[in-house]
This record gives sequence, structure tokens and C-alpha cells, in this order.
Amino acid sequence: MRISLETASVLLKEGKVVAVPTETVYGLAACLSNEDAIRHIYTLKGRPANNPLIIHLPDVEQISAFCTQEIPNFLPLATAFWPGPMTLVIPIDYQSIPSIARAGLSTAAFRIPKHPGVRELIRCTGPLVMPSANLSGRPSSTCAEHIESDFGKNFPVYDGGKCTYGLESTILAYESGQWKIARQGALSQEMFAPALGYFPPIEGQTPSANTSPLCPGQLFRHYSPKAALHLLSHIPSDLKGVLLGFANRQYPATCRLISLGDLEHPYQIAEVLYAALRQLDEEKIEKAYVDMAFPCKGILATITERLSRAASAKSESY
Ligand code: TXA
Ligand code: MG
Repeated sequence: MRISLETASVLLKEGKVVAVPTETVYGLAACLSNEDAIRHIYTLKGRPANNPLIIHLPDVEQISAFCTQEIPNFLPLATAFWPGPMTLVIPIDYQSIPSIARAGLSTAAFRIPKHPGVRELIRCTGPLVMPSANLSGRPSSTCAEHIESDFGKNFPVYDGGKCTYGLESTILAYESGQWKIARQGALSQEMFAPALGYFPPIEGQTPSANTSPLCPGQLFRHYSPKAALHLLSHIPSDLKGVLLGFANRQYPATCRLISLGDLEHPYQIAEVLYAALRQLDEEKIEKAYVDMAFPCKGILATITERLSRAASAKSESY
């Protein structure tokens, strides 16, 4: 059910959960001040209780109400990338944030989104917690139709059109004296070097049994369609079946191409990636190949990570 910004604001203040657009992906929003509404988010998504939520604020100044200490390079990062698709995990005054939102951790994740609709909404409602608006483990939603497909036609969605980036925010966490990338996202690793003076290492890809990842969400299955995805670094000439590939490449005539766009425009690939993964499910496709013969740099590094996670547990070699 499509709702206006005003209705979204009223529903949120009444303690309801509504879906709202951001520049990255759609979020399932609840007021930070309403623990029952936050609990309802976990139930709706089928989300494990040990996977904390991001707190969305309208302005960086508001973060000081939750923090206890100054963190090196916090301001250069905030100035360079907020409002926008960056999330920062920092130590907090734990009494200032309900335990359920931060999954009992002594840190919390903050983001100042850029989408004008959600910014106005947060100014009306106060801080919102927002995980991506998808059933846990499934591809995120990048338009209102995706939310209706996961949560039903009657679920309230404030429709802000298609998301600009189509990939979640990049999460940086401050640990052992440096910022590290806890989740790759819409901003690539190299973009942070000017603000930090170093390339933040990418963490949490393959946490070992005795270390916990910087970002709890990295432990869980993610971004997966029902279809088994097979990632191919080269396309055999006799390949048959559905292939996620690129418009500017030639593939065997025995393949049916679902185009991710043109590799010359990697941000456009990001924009359509989740819609393409969802299309596999809509068409009840059980198996698809993915052309992975592209460089793992810039935003393509995030796309590689998402496809690898989407394929994990089901992949096999051709
Ligand atoms: O672009 C985005 O970030 C979107 C939009 C809606 O803002 N939100 C989003 O939320 O992707 P979600 O819940 O799907 O992913 C948030 C990630 C989870 O993997 C969670 O583990 C991590 O943020 N996270 C939240 N709080 C954390 C904390 N205190 N420490 C480490 N990771 C945290
Ligand atoms: Mg998510």
C-alpha cells in the first residue's frame, strides 16, 4: 500500500513499521524510541536477534547525544560522506540506545541518509532504525514493488522511486586505532583514503571460528535468490541456460542473457543488481550462471562481494 510522507510520519509515531526509500536501498523503519516497533522489525524480517540495526539521523550534530568519546578521523569522514551512503560504527553511551537496536553491543551504527524524502521524515519522527526492507537473507529492495513482493501488497510503503545506488551503505568501524571496512557498499575502499590518509582494510570477509566479525550481519546468509548461482570466470562456448551478464559482451546463442548493464558504467550495474536477482525468483528460475570476468575494483569490488555471498552454499564449478 503506497502511503504519503505525512502518513508514514503518523504511522511511525503510532509505533508502526513502514518501508521508506533511501539513496542506497529501501529500509524498514521504526522509531528508535519505540522498543516494541523495533522488535516487530526483527519479526517481520525473520532477522536473528544478534544482528543490530543502523540508526538514521538527519544531522551529524545529533550523534554527540549518543557518544562518549572523540574518535580520530570521525569528522573528516562525516564531512566528506554525510549525508550519504556511509555508516559509522562507534562506541556509545549504551544507556542512550535501547539494547534491542544494537543487539546488546557497546557500539552502534549511525548513518545520515541523503534521500530528501527520508531526511524530511526523520525530521518529523526523530531517529529511525532501518534495516534493509527485505526478508532476512534475500536481496535488498530497491523499489516499492520489491517490498510488496516480500511483505505483501498491504504493507505500507512510502514510495520514493528507484534507489540511486542500489547497494547498501559502506560500513566503517573504528577498531584497534584505525577505521576498517566492516561491510563493503556503495562507496568503494579507495574513496576513503583522502579523508583517512590510508586505505581502510576490508574486514569480516571470512571470520575464523574464534573471532567475531566487525559487522555481525556478515555472518549470515545474504542477498540470495532461490536460484542456485554459478559464478564463472570464463564462459564456456557450450554453456546453456540463464546467464547474468553484460550488454556489451557476446555470449553463446544457447544462453539466455539477463543483462546487468554495461561494464563501462559500473554504477548502473549496482543499480539493477538486486532487481536482476529478484527476477530469477519471479520467473522461478532454479539455476543461473554469472559472468564474473570483470576487474574487482571500485564499485565492482562490492558487486563481486554481493554476488559471491548470493552464490555461497549453492555454488559448484561448471
Ligand atoms: O544502506 C544501508 O545501510 C541500508 C539503508 C536502509 O540505510 N540499511 C542496511 O541495514 O543495510 P541492514 O540492517 O540490512 O544492515 C546493517 C548492517 C548489519 O550487517 C549489521 O550487522 C551492521 O549493519 N551493524 C549494525 N550495528 C552494528 C554495530 N554496532 N557494529 C557492527 N555492525 C553493526
Ligand atoms: Mg540487509
